[in-house]
Amino acid sequence: MTRAMRLLITGGCGFIGSNFIRRVLSQHPDWGVVNLDCLTYAGDERNLRDLDGDERYRFVHGDICDPTDVRLAIGEGVDAIVNFAAETHVDRSISSPASFLRTDVLGAHVLLEAARNLPVGRFVQISTDEVYGSVTRGRTPEDAPLAPRSPYAASKASADLLVQAYIATYGLRAVITRGSNTYGPYQHPEKLVPLFITNLIDRKPVPLYGDGLHEREWLHVDDHCRAIERVLLDGVPGEVYNVGPSDGCTNVEITRRLLGLLGLDDEKLIRHVPDRPGHDRRYALECSKVRALGWEPEVDLAKGLAKTVEWYRANEAWWRPIVEGEFAAYYRHQYSGLDAR
Ligand code: NAD
Ligand code: TYD
Repeated sequence: MTRAMRLLITGGCGFIGSNFIRRVLSQHPDWGVVNLDCLTYAGDERNLRDLDGDERYRFVHGDICDPTDVRLAIGEGVDAIVNFAAETHVDRSISSPASFLRTDVLGAHVLLEAARNLPVGRFVQISTDEVYGSVTRGRTPEDAPLAPRSPYAASKASADLLVQAYIATYGLRAVITRGSNTYGPYQHPEKLVPLFITNLIDRKPVPLYGDGLHEREWLHVDDHCRAIERVLLDGVPGEVYNVGPSDGCTNVEITRRLLGLLGLDDEKLIRHVPDRPGHDRRYALECSKVRALGWEPEVDLAKGLAKTVEWYRANEAWWRPIVEGEFAAYYRHQYSGLDAR
């Protein structure tokens, strides 16, 4: 049993943040969580509906870029801040980068200032494997140079550098996790796995960028959340921890797996569309540091994808209003050669 903690979680109405809040409150009955989220298109209060009425949970509708909102959320004080809040979709960062710089960089800075002034016992910055850029061969350890190539990745890398500056300059007890591509329940349908599942449920084609041979390391959200929890509890202040499974998968391979799981072994549903500008070819993380803390992935890709397909099948009431809302216009614009959703 760990000692009771009070956490400020930012971006907790998004995909990974909501799964993380649900996990920590179920694992640690004496913990409390304040969730600060400004509810962008990617945030959805429904993701945590099951916590309605739970006294250990408080939602603050506010912006991490606003110091007053952050102060309000921190209230009497917190033991740790876990920063999930971010603009997260690479394609949107290519068409409109400004909000990425604002939230991912300036927002992180507002939180770091709050942590420095309080002080907060621990700060966990949730980062991404994309900060290392495209990896031609081998695996990237935590001390590899940062070489981000999309506005999203550059914003996340900038935040990582700021966190490291606060560690060096002010002795902030911060840690950084750099997770790989994550999938699972409550992920917005703009990302590859839920986009392809929801399109295929509707028997619509799926848009594969370029030759589809780009490689990602797919991590189930439960595994990602367990790793963040481990780093929160046992990570050494000042350190960075890569978090990923040990094998990669090309986009065409994951697409074929999804077609199979939906009983649609029909390659005609795969549409090769123009490639994403600056599309990173491969990510591959060296994860021995987080494994040394006692974490390892438990959900293999076959099982994780099958569970995720089942979740989207069973939760159409969750995703249907999203794909029929603002997302429909985004989709028409982003995938102009394809049938509308
Ligand atoms: P998401 O897009 O699903 O959710 C982001 C959340 O942040 C939303 O609830 C949104 O409303 C909130 N938010 C955005 N701007 C905000 C602001 N200014 N103030 C307060 N709240 C704000 O994101 P996700 O996929 O859950 O990712 C969470 C974190 O994990 C991000 O930092 C991302 O960079 C990182 N990450 C994601 C993945 C992945 O594959 N999804 C992999 C590695 C790391
Ligand atoms: P995505 O889910 O956007 O995550 P990220 O860009 O953060 O890795 O994309 C995963 C991979 O899938 C990436 O190589 C881009 C590719 N992709 C497509 O081929 N088609 C799509 O419509 C999308 C959204 C992604």
